[in-house]
Amino acid sequence: MILVTGATGNAGRAVVGALAEAGEPVRALVRREADLPAELATGDLNDPASVAAALEGVRGVFLLSGYDNMAATLAEIAKAGVERVVLLSASAAETGNPANAVSRYHIESEAMVRESGVPWTILRPRTFFANTFRWLDQLRAGDVVKDAFPDVRVAAIDPLDIGAVAATAFLTDGHEGQVYPLTGPQSLLPADRVRLLGEALGRDLTFVGLSDEEARAQMSAAMPQMYVDAFFDFFAEGNLDESPVLPTVEQVTGRPPRLFAEWAAANAAAFGRTDV
Ligand SMILES: NC(=O)c1ccc[n+]([C@@H]2O[C@H](COP(=O)([O-])OP(=O)(O)OC[C@H]3O[C@@H](n4cnc5c(N)ncnc54)[C@H](OP(=O)(O)O)[C@@H]3O)[C@@H](O)[C@H]2O)c1
Repeated sequence: MILVTGATGNAGRAVVGALAEAGEPVRALVRREADLPAELATGDLNDPASVAAALEGVRGVFLLSGYDNMAATLAEIAKAGVERVVLLSASAAETGNPANAVSRYHIESEAMVRESGVPWTILRPRTFFANTFRWLDQLRAGDVVKDAFPDVRVAAIDPLDIGAVAATAFLTDGHEGQVYPLTGPQSLLPADRVRLLGEALGRDLTFVGLSDEEARAQMSAAMPQMYVDAFFDFFAEGNLDESPVLPTVEQVTGRPPRLFAEWAAANAAAFGRTDV
């Protein structure tokens, strides 16, 4: 039995799916009722006792980074005799810069997992394809997508590949103590993603890059200032390079990572395409 946290989210749902497909029993830690191919356990990652209550019979935990009392949660996981934690970290941990708020929570979460005494595997995915859902409102309003950092190439990844890597780390040997940087198969500009999404939707979409000033205003409306600063540090100052395409997904799973075009086609209905 594997306990999956964040199971209703982009990454966690993919982990649940990959494990269920492999025939592994899955328990999903959820805050409310959810439609998942898993047993449900109600709990909150900020409440270690609620995680502890979900650990009966669990041999592996897929854990999100950055929640309160994570050391206490990991102590409960160790006490329950769990044999493997797969931590969802991020490329942000690679900067090693604790002054950056996003890097800091990943660096600290990784350190706590390493010190927990539970055998671990750390995943450091790049930007998720699923962040494209942030364009939904603009795409409902018209055919123009405006976004930040127009000149920044990213080897973004399909959450399904994160799920496949996590499932492999739980179900096969050789992954203990490994840190896996995870990318998709192409390094794409935002304009490339807009073009490929347009092709999947049968729409002629236009990309417009936001100035740094416009981007700051838009991002400040959506997230705390320390995270806006963190993303500017990464992508405007150039302190995080997510552009290299890495072989890790294929090395771990035995098959190449999925294309953005495949993700766009698979999610076309969510963007309003009705004939798929
Ligand atoms: N997006 C990216 O580009 C990216 C890149 C690298 C790494 N990451 C990391 O990946 C993580 C997950 O991303 P995602 O896109 O899968 O996130 P998401 O779709 O927003 O899902 C977040 C999940 O966490 C759950 N959750 C939130 N607060 C919780 C709490 N207090 N207790 C228990 N569960 C809680 C949510 O459950 P509810 O349904 O109850 O809200 C949901 O299942 C991010 O937080 C980030 O650390 C993201």
